[in-house]
Amino acid sequence: NKPEEDLLSPDRFLNIAHRGASGYAPEHTLKAYEIAEKMQGDYIEIDLQMTKDGKLIAMHDDTVSRTTNSKGKVSDFSFSEVEALDAGTWFNEENPGLAQPAFNQLEVPSLEQILDAFGTNANYYIETKKPEENPTMVDELLTVLKRRDLLDADVPTGKVIIQSFSKKSLLEVQQKAPSLPRIQLMKFNGKATLTDKELANIKQYAVGIGPNASSLTKAFVQQARKAGLLIHPYTVNEKADMKRLIDWGVTGMFTNYPDRLNEVLGR
Ligand code: G3P
Ligand code: CA
Repeated sequence: NKPEEDLLSPDRFLNIAHRGASGYAPEHTLKAYEIAEKMQGDYIEIDLQMTKDGKLIAMHDDTVSRTTNSKGKVSDFSFSEVEALDAGTWFNEENPGLAQPAFNQLEVPSLEQILDAFGTNANYYIETKKPEENPTMVDELLTVLKRRDLLDADVPTGKVIIQSFSKKSLLEVQQKAPSLPRIQLMKFNGKATLTDKELANIKQYAVGIGPNASSLTKAFVQQARKAGLLIHPYTVNEKADMKRLIDWGVTGMFTNYPDRLNEVLGR
């Protein structure tokens, strides 16, 4: 892989558009990703779910109930059934100030459709969601990435990052596609704490960690950096929080507002 672009350098701060620019458009739709690109987010964040017929789609929840006009588990829908759903009206109803008639027409995209739409221009930060319930998720993800040439040797390191709360899933990626960088997601109730030994263990299979932002302390951020890990907190939407975390030394962050983050970064 080409190291030139060095997306994973700790000095290269990463603006990760959480579910796309989901502060402005229905999350995980091509429109939300398009806005993220326009706002010059560095990465499109994609949560994966798997349909009944084994297709990977971009959706946060394991049901279609919150973000479409239907109800039920994703795993009970075929992809053609999912494609027929309206993935935008809920957003218009919840955000009258941001509503657009065109959002009503938006569809739930498959991973392939996203990669076809954004090609090699975009960088992708992809989460395997509940891989324990979808044991073929990593295999299918790697098949799709390979088919779209994103596992080729000339793809810059970090163009695709894989994130998961599941260590098992990250280890599977490490074993099957070692060149794909991995981020260990984590959620702390209260203050983030890990021992140096635990951080060293994570370093064996991941380039960094993705903790919930509300758990962070300056000491923890510095400890993770000292362990040689990147640290990308989620989800940071207020400028004051962005500034504080940047000051503490995080190396990127997930935000629904990539434009705000770029303003804070002076980009
Ligand atoms: O992937 C980082 C962050 O998005 C994890 O939380 O629930 O928004 O996927 P969630
Ligand atoms: Ca996510």
